[in-house]
Amino acid sequence: MAVERTLSIIKPDAVAKNVIGEILSRFEKADLRIIGARMVQLSREDAEKFYAVHSERPFFNDLVSFMISGPVMVQALEGENAIAKNRDLMGATNPKEAEAGTIRGDFAESIDANAVHGSDAPETAEQEIAFFFGQDGLCPR
Ligand code: TYD
Repeated sequence: MAVERTLSIIKPDAVAKNVIGEILSRFEKADLRIIGARMVQLSREDAEKFYAVHSERPFFNDLVSFMISGPVMVQALEGENAIAKNRDLMGATNPKEAEAGTIRGDFAESIDANAVHGSDAPETAEQEIAFFFGQDGLCPR
């Protein structure tokens, strides 16, 4: 299996719940290495750019407003099969459908406040990591 990188965001609801450490610990226990991490207060413009792919969806404005409602923690994760592994750890988009033991199953309240973001494919992972960390902002190990 290939070593991949993926972008994870701990969203404002999970930051407000003070469960950053519990979420990072799940990544580490699943052999994902944190090779970049920082707290960010997104501007509306940043959030609109990041979620541009959803700009025509009915939930876009609410999603952007939620993502700027408080600080988030962005991380670049690296490891075998990192993209799919992180999606498995996250659970379903709608927490009501997410299994217990997944991050969203355990920490998220609703589809619009669902605790975490994770890249969904290698191309988006690369773009999303570049969006937050640029070319030189990572510490691979
Ligand atoms: P999406 O990329 O479909 O899900 P995921 O985060 O699991 O990759 O959607 C992006 C975010 O948009 C999602 O995490 C929460 C928000 N969203 C809504 O608020 N309502 C919706 O009906 C959907 C599908 C997504």
